[in-house]
Amino acid sequence: EKQEFEKSFNEMISALPKRKSWGILEDYFQYQGFWLHPTFLKGVVSAQQKLQAQSTDIMLCNLPKTGTTWLKSLIFAIVTRASFDHSTSPLLSKLPHELVPFMELYHADFPTYRELGVPVLATHVPYPSLPKSILDSGCKIVYICRNPKDSFVSLYHFNTAILTSQNLQPLDLDEAFDMFCEGVSIYGPYWDHVLGYWKASLAHPDRILFLHYEEMKDDTVLYAKKLAEFIGYPFSSEEHRQEVPEKIVKMCSFENLSNLEVNRSEKRGVIQNKMYFRKGKVGDWKNYFTSEMAERLDGITQQKLSGSGLSI
Ligand code: A3P
Repeated sequence: EKQEFEKSFNEMISALPKRKSWGILEDYFQYQGFWLHPTFLKGVVSAQQKLQAQSTDIMLCNLPKTGTTWLKSLIFAIVTRASFDHSTSPLLSKLPHELVPFMELYHADFPTYRELGVPVLATHVPYPSLPKSILDSGCKIVYICRNPKDSFVSLYHFNTAILTSQNLQPLDLDEAFDMFCEGVSIYGPYWDHVLGYWKASLAHPDRILFLHYEEMKDDTVLYAKKLAEFIGYPFSSEEHRQEVPEKIVKMCSFENLSNLEVNRSEKRGVIQNKMYFRKGKVGDWKNYFTSEMAERLDGITQQKLSGSGLSI
């Protein structure tokens, strides 16, 4: 069965449009309108065929570098708070990515994610390619978006950090920027990804919670409460009195997580844990963009999002 899957997968991707990627991993292939690396695409196709989501599952969906690590830690802490507190949480000794698995790398051969005791699964898959079982199950979907300028800067640094650590030559900032603007970036076009989930969240507000990185930075406690309520783990009034939401937010803060030993010094494969924690700030693009770059990206964003009611 596995061999058959490999064979039909290889046949399928050999017919897809292909582009040079930003350097890490293989080329991008355009699948259902988005640019994916074959390694992840294989996981998407496998999940489309085999994933059996349940109504109690929670899916975290977003583009890379828009807040995955943060949301994984918040959702994990909220869901497991009856078993652990801020001094015993596995988040203190494990990278959030070890606690909440990535759908694309699991080829849908779970239920490993539920075996971890936490029915949470993360994916970068665009809305139109979400496995049907996720939509049919009625499970909760949390989407986080981040402004495109900071998303690009974060993505560029992450790529550069990985390539440099492998003694490979990173792409020029300008070259990466041109590709990003053209829509050729991991799981891009950026705007189409965001719009897919945005429109779906308007159509199904009970099923899809649409969050903004910037708003969450601004009032994390408020959004942690909304998040808990939405995924079906609301804080009780007693928990409010005991400031449980505040404690969870503090534990999952950039300052706390980035200073933990596990996140400072360990690595998984070619990725050092600390690469997931760079600055964690809003507006870092100002340190890298010329005014022409900002104008160009803002122009594309305005045009792509016009009439959608979304501003990022
Ligand atoms: P910067 O590169 O701008 O610092 P992802 O988790 O999706 O890979 O995104 C990584 C981005 O989120 C990085 O942004 C990283 O610093 C930031 N980040 C990681 N942990 C965070 C946290 N606990 N709170 C806020 N931002 C965080």
